Amino acid sequence: MKNQRKILVTSALPYANGAIHLGHMVEHIQTDIWVRFQKSRGHECYYCCADDTHGTPIMLAAQKQGITPEQLIEKTHGEHLSDFTGFGIGYDNYYSTHSPENKQYSEQIYLALKANDKIISKNINQLFDPEKQMFLPDRFVKGECPKCHAKDQYGDNCEVCGTTYAPTDLIQPYSVVSGATPVMKETEHFFFKLSDCADFLRTWTSGNNAQGKPHLQDEARNKMNEWLKDGELADWDITRDAPYFGFEIPNQPNKYFYVWLDAPVGYMASFQNLCDRIGLNFNDYFGKDSQAELYHFIGKDILYFHALFWTAMLAYSGYRTPSGIFAHGFLTVDGQKMSKSRGTFITAKSYLEQGLNPEWMRYYIAAKLNSKIEDIDLNLNDFIARVNSDLVGKFVNIAARASGFIQKRFSGSLKDVSQSDLIKQLTEKSEQIAQDYEDREYNKAIREIMALADLVNEYVDENKPWELAKQEGADNQLHQVCSELINAFKILAAYLSPVLPKLAVQAAEFLNIEKLDWAQTVSTLPENHKINEYKHLMQRIEEKQVNALIEANKQNIEAQPQTQVEEKKADFPEGYTPVSAQCSFDDFVKVDMRVAKVLNCEAVEGSTKLLKFNLDLGFEQRTIFSGIAASYPNPAELNGTMVIAVVNFAPRKMAKFGVSEGMILSAADGNGQLKLLTVHEGAKAGDKVG
Ligand code: MSP
Ligand code: ZN
Repeated sequence: MKNQRKILVTSALPYANGAIHLGHMVEHIQTDIWVRFQKSRGHECYYCCADDTHGTPIMLAAQKQGITPEQLIEKTHGEHLSDFTGFGIGYDNYYSTHSPENKQYSEQIYLALKANDKIISKNINQLFDPEKQMFLPDRFVKGECPKCHAKDQYGDNCEVCGTTYAPTDLIQPYSVVSGATPVMKETEHFFFKLSDCADFLRTWTSGNNAQGKPHLQDEARNKMNEWLKDGELADWDITRDAPYFGFEIPNQPNKYFYVWLDAPVGYMASFQNLCDRIGLNFNDYFGKDSQAELYHFIGKDILYFHALFWTAMLAYSGYRTPSGIFAHGFLTVDGQKMSKSRGTFITAKSYLEQGLNPEWMRYYIAAKLNSKIEDIDLNLNDFIARVNSDLVGKFVNIAARASGFIQKRFSGSLKDVSQSDLIKQLTEKSEQIAQDYEDREYNKAIREIMALADLVNEYVDENKPWELAKQEGADNQLHQVCSELINAFKILAAYLSPVLPKLAVQAAEFLNIEKLDWAQTVSTLPENHKINEYKHLMQRIEEKQVNALIEANKQNIEAQPQTQVEEKKADFPEGYTPVSAQCSFDDFVKVDMRVAKVLNCEAVEGSTKLLKFNLDLGFEQRTIFSGIAASYPNPAELNGTMVIAVVNFAPRKMAKFGVSEGMILSAADGNGQLKLLTVHEGAKAGDKVG
């Protein structure tokens, strides 16, 4: 084939300690549609994925279940693969990061980076669980928020007041694993000198690939540019101490690669494993001089791992870099985050077990997806309406209505319709719709395909085959119209085949052709071609099926392993603070701080932490809550004091106590008590501070 492209495509590797849910499915459906489209155009395209098997959460999950991590990840691998294949995801390989190929490439890349002077060693201090004898990742330390004093907050940020901090800042920290009080312990860690790669990354993130397309979407590029703008990139800690489930670092006993070092290498490992199986040349795809295209489909939360860390790892260890990274947004259900208590944290397994057709979901997701990093909403009523009206009402019915006449009246055989105007209108759109798929503008492709289906249905209503069938001497016309309809159905089915692969196979059987590839979007069936008997291709969704699905997921709550998080947080690299988290002068001057006079200060009923301040800002009065009650047993003594308040924060609701319209500055005294910062005599309420 002329202009045949070589393309390697990946989806992000799901963690091996949780079930596949519809959020994951969005990503794999998006990728699978793209891959099937490329294959149907005749390109050489491979789709690799794997389970992401390493790290502390997986190690602890296995312990909790009383099995080895190897047993856990093997069990999960089977479950994940059957969920994905159940939704028609057609990987060329679904592998594991706990594999010999991955160990080999991870070590080799690490050693190449080291030889390239990109690995340095630093001694760091980290919280250590003296009972469990292990270092604790940020998310495994909890304690009291140093700012608002909310209890049981994670070591990286407070979910009540939103402050980010280091785990060492927590008050009365405890280990989530054992409950013990962590101690500080020094340990040697190896870092990837990302600081050395900033110039390269600046160029890469804003650059184009060999096909002339940008490496990153606009939103992604802007985000990365913010990180890279000024200042240095922090170096990236790629080490974890034993006990850890992962790969030991070469010549560094008891030191392991952090899971995010070997996870993206898993793309290579999965592909190498495929190469060995079907006889491909690895270097044609990953070698420095590769002419092939390499694309990673990922969620927005793991963009910097791919656009920065992974790309730099490849570039500085002698491999090619990705042609593009395609990030998508998050799935919400009925406008809200997926939630176990509402039953909208829908697992792939439950969907399949409840007997819903996976192609309904593939179609709905496709109709919603575009090339941007926007969240997409699964609206359950819209889901039902859309699938029933588009797929069953407009599309499948075309075949159902025409096939009976063709079978009964013309013994299954078709007329030549290559000169039909209707057919021309359908084939004309082939390149446009192809471009939409190529650009990942699936919603646009679906809109166009459904507009064509509307045309076909109008044609049915104008020509009324059921009336032609009753008229004397209208046989020829009936044959013509029904042959056009069967051909129109074939073209529409070919347009939809990347989205509905199972239906495409059944439709090809009905049409008595080998397969519905893209060439079928511009061709007609030859004169006298015989089609097979029509069997119903798709049922309507019943509302009660969707209700049952939600119910099933509500009942799932207790059954989920504890280690599975309710909703995915941004997967921030542990201990890694991006430069953009630093505050520029411009950022600083945005904070409006004013001198304020305490008009009234009182304890808050029902809270041991909060004091309620009524403040005079000179230009207005405000209510602000501050978590410093422990330092001021007699709050009234503060009346009349001049304090400093940040006055341009968005108002924040304080649990059940009311709305706080700003923040009052305080700092610890020598005894760990937070005390209000005050100002010099003569300052007036409303004066600017800064
Ligand atoms: N293991 C890492 C990825 C390593 S890639 C070298 C990981 N795993 S994950 O299981 O948490 O997420 C896998 C993918 O699913 C990510 O791309 C993530 O963005 C995506 N999604 C997880 N929840 C999602 C939604 N609710 N909606 C859409 N995608 C979501 O991150
Ligand atoms: Zn807090």
